[in-house]
Amino acid sequence: MIAEFSLRVAELAGVRSFLEIGAGRANLTGIMLEHLHERNKLYPLIVTDVQPIILENVGKLRDAYPQAQVETFLWNIMEPPPAALRAKLAHPVLLYERYTLNYATIKALEHIAEVADIVVLGDWFNYTGKLYAYDEVFKRIGANPLLYKEVKPLLDEYFPYQYIIDRRAQDAIKLPNITMLIAWK
Ligand SMILES: C[S@@+](CC[C@H](N)C(=O)[O-])C[C@H]1O[C@@H](n2cnc3c(N)ncnc32)[C@H](O)[C@@H]1O
Repeated sequence: MIAEFSLRVAELAGVRSFLEIGAGRANLTGIMLEHLHERNKLYPLIVTDVQPIILENVGKLRDAYPQAQVETFLWNIMEPPPAALRAKLAHPVLLYERYTLNYATIKALEHIAEVADIVVLGDWFNYTGKLYAYDEVFKRIGANPLLYKEVKPLLDEYFPYQYIIDRRAQDAIKLPNITMLIAWK
């Protein structure tokens, strides 16, 4: 869903670079590359993580998608983006991620805003303020439950235009989380 949604938004907004943060085992990267391949799209994709293992994981994907323009960079999102990474990006930049802010903190949004024009965030922000089952699971696996009420002021500051994908489910069935959120400058 994150990949498909990012691609549709990219087409509408004339995006010129894709940026992924916290790629981990590169599962989401693989899904994105498959979507790009299916649609015959050649957006340059820069994949980052704080851990060097990402370079290997994405390297394996390069073999499967030789036509893809994919590069890797080490970036700790708790720090400003490296100059070499910035230099590679053509704006507008769409940054997508899944379960990475949960492992860093939402303060990283300040650094993310230095390079991204549009963000697609898949961190399951807690919408009610009351911790739910999945929040407890996050805590057990070393991640942080993130409360939307704490994320919202930062989004307002850096990415003032926002759309919550789950809005109707929240109203209709009281869904307690935000599965995916898109925000832009
Ligand atoms: C749960 S994994 C993400 C999985 C991946 N996004 C996916 O959907 O398949 C969390 C990732 O965030 C990365 N990470 C944690 N803290 C980070 C930081 N400060 N800066 C950049 N990446 C970070 C970890 O190294 C790890 O690869």
